[in-house]
Amino acid sequence: MEWRALNERRRSVNFFDPSVTITASDLEKIYEAAKLALSSFNLQPWKVVAVISKDEKEKLRAVAMNQPKVTEASAVLVLFGNTQQFLESQDVFEDWVAKGCMKAEALPQAMAAAERLYGGDRALGYASRNVGLFAMNLMLAALDQGWDTHPMDGFDVEGVRNLMGLDPKYVPIMLVAIGKKRPDAALLPRGMRRSFEQVFILR
Ligand SMILES: Cc1cc2nc3c(=O)[nH]c(=O)nc-3n(C[C@H](O)[C@H](O)[C@H](O)COP(=O)(O)O)c2cc1C
Repeated sequence: MEWRALNERRRSVNFFDPSVTITASDLEKIYEAAKLALSSFNLQPWKVVAVISKDEKEKLRAVAMNQPKVTEASAVLVLFGNTQQFLESQDVFEDWVAKGCMKAEALPQAMAAAERLYGGDRALGYASRNVGLFAMNLMLAALDQGWDTHPMDGFDVEGVRNLMGLDPKYVPIMLVAIGKKRPDAALLPRGMRRSFEQVFILR
């Protein structure tokens, strides 16, 4: 689908058909399209836990404000930001070296620059920005492949962290429910969007 049509068609779908299942292969196809998402230094500071089983979705719903879509969707993607991705950037920089975009001697400097830019108190902002961009790509890729989505930040961060049990460097940034809209359910009309004049300041 063309970007314009995709963009106009995308909605946060509240009512999923609970009888629809999604496979690892469906998720992989979506990821393969979404992975072209841009990121700071191309570090791709994200990790995704795909919650597919009924039991796990129920546990997740309990720490996600009891939102029904968590259990009704085919899967819920828990998007984590890796707040220390700059410490695991070797593969990205080595790729640049291999492609002739960077000299091998510059690799330690690049890693140090990434740490300066994205470490310390900037780490959460860095992870959130990048995961937000990835999430948008993921939702548009999903729609392009016939899947509806719904992003959520209505969840208890510590609750999700404890439930998922990943290393604390991974911070849950967003949940994305994915599935197919229940055919009998009507979406609410699309909400207003602010005008160019309200949003832009020209200087
Ligand atoms: C980061 C983010 C978090 C959101 N969290 C929730 C949520 O927890 N629960 C919910 O019902 N909707 C949530 N939404 C959906 C928004 O309300 C929705 O995107 C907005 O109203 C625009 O509607 P549309 O996506 O259909 O265009 C979230 C959206 C975003 C982008």
